[in-house]
Amino acid sequence: MAETPTATFTDILAAIKPAKANPKPGKLFINGEFVDARSGKTFATMNPATGEVLTNIAEAGAEDVDLAVKAARAAFEESSPWRKMTPRDRSRMLWKLADLIRANAEELSELETLDTGKPIFESSRFDIPLAAECFEYYAGWPTKITGETIPNTAGGEALVYTLREPIGVCGQIIPWNFPLQMLAWKVAPALACGNTIVLKPAEQTPLTALRFAELTLEAGIPAGVFNVVTGFGPTTGAAMVEHPGIDKIAFTGSVEVGKEIMRTAAKTLKRVSLELGGKSPNLVFADADLDTAAKYALGGIFFNQGEMCTAGSRIFVEEKGYDEFMSVLRGRAAKMVAGDPLHPKTRLGALISAEHLERVMSYVAIGRGEGASVAVGGERIGSRGYFMQPTVLEGVTNSMRVAQEEIFGPVASVIKFADLEEGVREANNSEFGLAAAIWTRDIKKAHRVARSVKAGTVWINTISTTDNAAPFGGYKSSGFGRELGRAAIDLYTETKTVWVDLNG
Ligand code: NAI
Ligand code: MG
Repeated sequence: MAETPTATFTDILAAIKPAKANPKPGKLFINGEFVDARSGKTFATMNPATGEVLTNIAEAGAEDVDLAVKAARAAFEESSPWRKMTPRDRSRMLWKLADLIRANAEELSELETLDTGKPIFESSRFDIPLAAECFEYYAGWPTKITGETIPNTAGGEALVYTLREPIGVCGQIIPWNFPLQMLAWKVAPALACGNTIVLKPAEQTPLTALRFAELTLEAGIPAGVFNVVTGFGPTTGAAMVEHPGIDKIAFTGSVEVGKEIMRTAAKTLKRVSLELGGKSPNLVFADADLDTAAKYALGGIFFNQGEMCTAGSRIFVEEKGYDEFMSVLRGRAAKMVAGDPLHPKTRLGALISAEHLERVMSYVAIGRGEGASVAVGGERIGSRGYFMQPTVLEGVTNSMRVAQEEIFGPVASVIKFADLEEGVREANNSEFGLAAAIWTRDIKKAHRVARSVKAGTVWINTISTTDNAAPFGGYKSSGFGRELGRAAIDLYTETKTVWVDLNG
């Protein structure tokens, strides 16, 4: 990593268009203010398309995390402006945040593309509008979070009812693949329920979270309700998980870190929800519309350069349909070209970092060593930035490492299967269970397989779609807890049971 920035944040924005905003590089966002890290330490965030430093970011240490937690705790006091706010007013604030994301969509898309290397086509059509929609969806919730009255079966007269209360201070640790969208999935429901937040964006992609922090000021979110601590996992992130003043940790990232978080969180019995990667099967039956299945399979694995937790990275193809399906898949994959992520026509961007590119590329060699063949791609593109060809491995068997380990890049492992029983068995033969796709024209088969596949999301004759109203999360090592939809309201509230004696 380079030591000094080649440009300030303002320069970067100015190069794109007249700078409307100053997302305060080099600062943390604590108690409604942009402040330096106590240590004065900073680190660089890079543009993966060029390998150049974009700007310097403040590196929060344990003492900064402590300040952020104290601010969030104070903002959670029962007498605080935030807690005294009516659900209707919280609702309006969430809607205002959505409006502000939309009003600044162009700038946020550019920041996201610069920081992640993803195509501007994707950030402007998906990441940013979907983040705004997530705030709109949860803007509807504050006025609808209700408890229940419980029939009293204990004998005597009593009124028993439940209250749904916010949990408290939520620590949210997010990854680099969909920075603003992951922020929205966690921040919007947490605010809807009345919690306060300390958010840590990924060290690779802190820019949109900092810009969002400014938008919370514009939206009138009271000081301390939302805080951003930028920094690294083992320091900033770990300090959050250790901190007794944080009541819940919501994490999206690697399995390894998820396990570490659970272990550490056990010490203070924090609530934990984890969304951890996958190796999702995309099951293509011979009776499917194979042309459509092949086109969608490409999106399933190559969208966002394959840096997706739900990536359909194990493509299971029934033997009878193999040649037809693969000729479309190979032909189209070979035509995909990576390019400047800021160019509107680019559909394949850069991987997040040099280390990640190396790791993803290493799986091509691993696959070859295990006996798979590289049908398409397999090479790095150029030497500037971290681009890689869309890669299709054939002759893969499900026990190979390229079929069992999450690669998190543009590498599809194609596996043949003989019949339904074998397809389902092998699809389930995985440590993960985040998502699965099924392609068939047989409606009974589709629903039967949907029931048999162990995955938190199953797509039938489609792939990779999510909706803010639809629960999302994993089975097995893909984690637990469901985000989005009503499920996230459960994730960010405690249930309190109140007993009232009515005996006269
Ligand atoms: P990671 O799990 O290290 O990072 C994700 C987030 O956790 C970042 O904000 C990071 O700073 C934080 N973190 C790291 N160590 C921590 C710790 N000890 N305590 C608290 N927070 C910590 O993932 P990384 O290294 O960026 O990617 C490695 C692999 O993880 C990827 O190749 C991919 O397989 C998987 N991954 C899965 C994601 C998903 O969407 N489920 C997202 C990102 C990565
Ligand atoms: Mg970056």
